[in-house]
Amino acid sequence: METVIEHWDGRVCCSRYDAETGAFLTVAIHSRQLGPATGGTRAMAYPSRELAVGDATRLASSMTHKMAVAGLPMGGGKSVIALPRDRREIGEADWHRILVLHAETLATLNGSYWTGPDVGTSSADMDVLHGLSGGYAFGRSEAAGGPGSSAPETAHGVYVGIRESAREVGISDLAGRRVLVQGLGAVGMDVARRVAADGARLIASDIDPLRCEVARTELDAEIVAVDDVVSTACDVFVPCATGGVIDRRVASTLETRVVAGSANNVLADDAAADVLASRGIVLAPDFVINSGGGIHLVGREVLGWTADEVSLHVERIGRTLAEVFERARTERTSTDLAARRLADDVLARSTQSVAS
Ligand code: NAI
Ligand code: PHE
Repeated sequence: METVIEHWDGRVCCSRYDAETGAFLTVAIHSRQLGPATGGTRAMAYPSRELAVGDATRLASSMTHKMAVAGLPMGGGKSVIALPRDRREIGEADWHRILVLHAETLATLNGSYWTGPDVGTSSADMDVLHGLSGGYAFGRSEAAGGPGSSAPETAHGVYVGIRESAREVGISDLAGRRVLVQGLGAVGMDVARRVAADGARLIASDIDPLRCEVARTELDAEIVAVDDVVSTACDVFVPCATGGVIDRRVASTLETRVVAGSANNVLADDAAADVLASRGIVLAPDFVINSGGGIHLVGREVLGWTADEVSLHVERIGRTLAEVFERARTERTSTDLAARRLADDVLARSTQSVAS
């Protein structure tokens, strides 16, 4: 556990174990330089608690970059609830107890960190967390007075980003192109519908056979086994499941021209981005292309934007990606490093404006 924190430049990481449910809850605050920290609550089973803490800290760092490149006045944080088994196997009473404990931590942090939905949590969970924590949860259901799920605007942004990234490799139209969507959840299924509507040849994969069946029957998707995803040839690879999909080995064999999906921290190691770049594969950095959900939550709940204003800001993800690609070309770096430099510039400018 020590090593994870030793290699992290964030501010606070607190964990709590609940013997009754077996849940291990972590909140990581990476930065509050641009405003209070924000980032979703991820609830899933992890092979170890150390990996859960590592995920929380890495995801929190990524949220700092996401908020900065999206121009939002918030810092980066993340919550990870490591469950003793799959989320679907946690009973109602246990889940409610876990949310109560998480809300206690949010209340203790007293507005330094605001959470929102992520893998394994929903708007209904945000209704509970908002009520019990004193209001520190974005993304409540519309019935409870919130702006609803972040997933549709995330999918909107990913779709905008897919088109921009495809243009970068000379693909101006998705019709007839092989687009492989990994993960058919709230974001992935929406993206799949959008690219299918453009006439793309959809290939899809999910651990849930029912979701695969929906994609097959409704969108005419070719289904590939979970283990075959990274060896399946396509024009555009759209990872929308969990992170860590592309390490240097996968990057050196992936048969695609573009990687552009919503999965946070899709790269498993530092070398993967360089390997992709050296092979001419365009990577849309995750914290740029998947910022639509954050724009929706912070736009609606902090900045008072309408749904139309949110949509307009999400469309700008295309321009931001074009800027990242241009920077990667001129600075001869990977797109991942170019995007990090873009975020660092925003953070540096904010330090200067505070100092002046
Ligand atoms: P979700 O939980 O609704 O969907 C994830 C899907 O991936 C599920 O259908 C699950 O069965 C599937 N899956 C899990 N492991 C898989 C595997 N090995 N192979 C294939 N499928 C697998 O989550 P959601 O909201 O769609 O998010 C997807 C990704 O996008 C996550 O990494 C999340 O952090 C990221 N993201 C989501 C945002 C949002 O607004 N929902 C915003 C920004 C990022
Ligand atoms: N979890 C989503 C993300 O990673 C949505 C989110 C954004 C949640 C901002 C809270 C705050 O972008």
